[in-house]
Amino acid sequence: MADGALTSLANSAPLPLVDPYGRSIRYLRVSVTDRCDFRCVYCMAEDMTFLPKAQVLTLEELERLCGAFIQTGVRKLRLTGGEPLVRRGIMDLIRRLGRHLDTGALDELTLTTNGSQLTKYAAELHAAGVRRVNVSLDTLDPDRFQAITRRGELASVLDGIAAAKAAGLQVKINCVALRGVNDGEVHDLVAWCGRDGHDLTFIEVMPLGDMDEGGQGGSVRADQYWPLSMLRAELAKRWTLTDLPISTGGPARYARVGETGGRVGFITPMTHNFCESCNRVRLTCTGMLYMCLGQDDAADLRAVLRGAPDDDAALLAAIKEAIARKPKGHDFIIDRRRKAPAVARHMSVTGG
Ligand code: 5AD
Ligand code: SF4
Repeated sequence: MADGALTSLANSAPLPLVDPYGRSIRYLRVSVTDRCDFRCVYCMAEDMTFLPKAQVLTLEELERLCGAFIQTGVRKLRLTGGEPLVRRGIMDLIRRLGRHLDTGALDELTLTTNGSQLTKYAAELHAAGVRRVNVSLDTLDPDRFQAITRRGELASVLDGIAAAKAAGLQVKINCVALRGVNDGEVHDLVAWCGRDGHDLTFIEVMPLGDMDEGGQGGSVRADQYWPLSMLRAELAKRWTLTDLPISTGGPARYARVGETGGRVGFITPMTHNFCESCNRVRLTCTGMLYMCLGQDDAADLRAVLRGAPDDDAALLAAIKEAIARKPKGHDFIIDRRRKAPAVARHMSVTGG
């Protein structure tokens, strides 16, 4: 069986993987740990039970998997978590992945971080080839920061952001919009990011129900949901926003802020359909590959990895097979729940 896979892969090279809807898969997001030093209210419960080590991919397994995705045409890697920089040995992995930048096999290696470890790692990240980081920052008020993250310290994150900038990393701030929490601060955030040269992206909070499905159990109340259409209307009272045509293939829409020259992005996972341009897949730290954020189908790549430690052909075949199951989009799911006719087609595409 492995021989067959090897032959067909050799014959079909060069890949880039194209899914059934013609989308080339160029972007892999990799969660390297489920752990975090913060406990943001919209993300985690106060008292979290984390995964046993044996279930989590080793750094070597992560490297091998990322390498396989790069062979299938992935050009951009983003490391996420949890908090990626709290994983022991993470810089070794980042340095190894950075070599794919040197060979030209990879265009970009980035991470999404809470910033708490950036003073320690910013220079090393830059040396490894990282040029941009997304830092989660919902407020510039120390007490509010403490309340949202439950155990974070604002000053260390601001120091981390400054260290990143000093090291030559471009910083994009991710801010979750929370009505009644940070809604009075959005102008200050725009001004601060404009002054310091950071792009700023607002993210619509995903409600509690969705997080419970993921077993996380955060504690965001429904009344904290603040649609970004309203946030944008608030911003427009003070700033001149001009829509920008750029699309990253992701869910963000961007506008230029006339007064600062900076960019503001809006990520509306709940209310917008961006699936037609989706170029990404997501890997969990246990090796489950999710083809779409909005639905449950996943491929267990850890089983393939551990079942065939020396057989990259099996891994490549498994990745290829998974991408072939990438669904059209998450609106499909709503259709599936509401309208019977969508079911059969979707199930046959996903293989049930
Ligand atoms: N809703 C919206 N954004 C969330 N994040 C984590 N949980 C949620 C949620 N429930 C954000 C973090 C970070 C990014 C990785 O995801 O704030 O910016
Ligand atoms: Fe940690 Fe990010 Fe979740 Fe906050 S949102 S608990 S920083 S992983």
